[in-house]
Amino acid sequence: GDAWKLKDHPKLPKGKTVAVIVLDGWGEAKPNEYNAISVAETPVMDSLKQGAPEHWRLIKAHGNAVGLPTEDDMGNSEVGHNALGAGRIFAQGAKLVDLALASGKIYDGEGFKYVQECFEKGTLHLIGLVSDGGVHSRLDQLLLLLKGAAERGAKRIRVHALTDGRDVLDGSSVGFMETLENDLAKLREQGVDARVASGGGRMYVTMDRYENDWDVVKRGWDAQVLGEAPHHFKDPVEAIKKLRQEPNTSDQYLAPFVIVDDNGKPVGPILDGDAVVTFNFRADRMVMLAKALEYEDFDKFDRVRVPKIHYAGMLQYDGELKLPNKYLVSPPEIDRTSGEYLVRNGVRTFACSETVKFGHVTFFWNGNRSGYFDEKLEEYVEIPSDSGITFNVKPKMKALEIAERTRDAILSHKFDQVRVNIPNSDMVGHTGDIKATIEACKAADDGVKMILEAIEQVGGIFLVTADHGNAEDMVKRNKKGEPLLDKNGNIQILTSHTLEPVPIAIGGPGLLPGVRFRTDLPTGGLANVAATFMNLHGFEAPSDYEPTLIEVVDN
Ligand code: 3PG
Ligand code: CO
Repeated sequence: GDAWKLKDHPKLPKGKTVAVIVLDGWGEAKPNEYNAISVAETPVMDSLKQGAPEHWRLIKAHGNAVGLPTEDDMGNSEVGHNALGAGRIFAQGAKLVDLALASGKIYDGEGFKYVQECFEKGTLHLIGLVSDGGVHSRLDQLLLLLKGAAERGAKRIRVHALTDGRDVLDGSSVGFMETLENDLAKLREQGVDARVASGGGRMYVTMDRYENDWDVVKRGWDAQVLGEAPHHFKDPVEAIKKLRQEPNTSDQYLAPFVIVDDNGKPVGPILDGDAVVTFNFRADRMVMLAKALEYEDFDKFDRVRVPKIHYAGMLQYDGELKLPNKYLVSPPEIDRTSGEYLVRNGVRTFACSETVKFGHVTFFWNGNRSGYFDEKLEEYVEIPSDSGITFNVKPKMKALEIAERTRDAILSHKFDQVRVNIPNSDMVGHTGDIKATIEACKAADDGVKMILEAIEQVGGIFLVTADHGNAEDMVKRNKKGEPLLDKNGNIQILTSHTLEPVPIAIGGPGLLPGVRFRTDLPTGGLANVAATFMNLHGFEAPSDYEPTLIEVVDN
């Protein structure tokens, strides 16, 4: 209806092909040997930066600018793509859970009550990522929830812990597990039978995304639900320390284990009558497990035994699928996204990435919503990712394939917006392999080149930006910014994202000569980008969107 109608931009024309390119994990920092982007050969991104200052600038991609609780929170792809697509800043999962725990409202909701119904006779299982990364979950939230559940009648609690090393330093899982164990011990002193029941590294156990590799979820299911895993331990801290000694492993890739009692029996399989809470607030890497736990019809792997449980997510992970049906905290209501507006104004849209980032330019971009707004006007293309490898082995990933499909989409003249995520600098950056990350950055730059050439051919416009930093800083630093050394004098590799700003560049033959970045928005961030590309499509953004980054001067 009319509510969707966008006003025409007073100066900018319609009908140009606009390429919106998101480099994942590509921040801006001073050149140095740990800045993989500065070391890499990236002529295209370099030339955009060295080109006209009125067409290149930096924008904020972390903390409050993307709805995170504090300015110490690094950016991430979920909140980054939400902000890019929605054009406004929403209080995000991390913050909403903080508020619900602080006020105690989390315990008054339907979700907690549903879970609580099992406390009398069953066990409460908590499954999620145990770290203080703040991207998918936070340990302090888990500890509060444990305490709150115990105070409200949970007598038997089992934690199924996934180790991180991706949003936090590798090796830090030992300390997080000690903190968790400490709190569980306090609960035991108070007469609550509270223990860790299973564990495993997040990239190998449970936390796959976008259906890249169901084996990952199955490994978790076997340990968490069936109580079956290749490794048995009596103590979870011991488990992590031992398993970390295996060759070619790390916190991210730790093998699955179960905790057993003195008779060798697993202490916490999930049984009929139990309650389960997945305590991650971020959706992408919980959706697959949520489906396995909730769906009656399920054929992705053999679940062997499907316990009758009361299951709730920390949040509802997919509003369209209503998955899961029960949840402790209501997710941010990210409505009226740019994707929906543009499609309802006739903008034919193409979106593309490879599997591991596909949902970023579709699901997250569209406000955590799966599917099309209008099938006739949209095409979303997923290039299958390599699975079962760490991406430092193939740092080029599918950048070339993504760029080729996008080039073809541009040259077909069937689309007004083509939107892509090029994953390399992020996915390889997360492995901590600096050499491979340098190759990854080059591959991403090659991808940009191909897309910009196609835009050149059709007289279109490009907007290149990133969702958060990662590859521009691969070393942990002290407050003065100096690289930190470990006990053995080696530098501490930074696998996580950063607090750095990201570049944004516009250009292409279709860009009117008078278009330039405004200078009155020095603190602009990712949420300002949607209004910007809506302008490039010839529309004014809705009035409650964060302001556009561009202005049109008459020359
Ligand atoms: C992941 O899920 O891989 C990391 O925790 C965050 O990376 P992303 O926000 O770039 O997806
Ligand atoms: Co990342």
